[in-house]
Amino acid sequence: MIYIANWKMNMVSLKKALSFYDEAIKEDTFHDHTIVICPSFPHMYPMLHHTETSTIFIGAQDCSEHETGAFTGQVSARTLAEIGITSCIVGHSERRSYFHETDEQVALKVKQLIAASITPIVCIGETEKEFTDKKTAAVLETQLEQVMRVIGQTNYTKHLLIAYEPVWAIGTGKVPDATYITEIFQWILDYTKKKNTNPLTISLLYGGSVDAQMAKQIKHISTLSGFLIGGASLDFQKFKNIVVSE
Ligand code: PGA
Repeated sequence: MIYIANWKMNMVSLKKALSFYDEAIKEDTFHDHTIVICPSFPHMYPMLHHTETSTIFIGAQDCSEHETGAFTGQVSARTLAEIGITSCIVGHSERRSYFHETDEQVALKVKQLIAASITPIVCIGETEKEFTDKKTAAVLETQLEQVMRVIGQTNYTKHLLIAYEPVWAIGTGKVPDATYITEIFQWILDYTKKKNTNPLTISLLYGGSVDAQMAKQIKHISTLSGFLIGGASLDFQKFKNIVVSE
């Protein structure tokens, strides 16, 4: 299983980030899984160079939709690749709502990541209103359409991670049940298969108020490849409990 820690802007101290990372490296139970920690940009390089060998990957929380240029404050996928970043989150709902990121920008970011040989982790998900209005499939379709189109224009045949994160479940403690997640996952698989002209490997992650209890309840879903974890990834013990829960 894949476990991605999305630290957002919560892990402010480098000292704390490194001490979490040290614990993760020492943790034997993590060896059977793919563990990715996504810290703040300035923490990536010191984390990557903290030890000689580590089985824990460092990911990014975002990248620019441009390759290079006068874009103050932006970080290029090429820069991420050069320092050793192997995966990057794009289209997180916080980026979409607070920074007004569009589906088109998300697709351009995916394009940059592919060109830089970084695995994209594309976040999609409906709001509470869209959920109650039963518009989930329509929303996910809009969010995925341009991403699949951009991928179709490349000869990318590697790995695409899609994190289904209902906006109403992020940081709220409210979670969808296993049947609902199974149905949505099947819809995503059917849709991406239809749109996918490249022989891509697509893995589905769930994100939104994941804790050990919740993870345990959905780990049996055969189409689930892992989790994107926000709040509970800030505390090493809580994060470990999610990984080892069964
Ligand atoms: P949460 O965040 O686990 O705190 O709900 C998940 C996310 O935003 O990726």
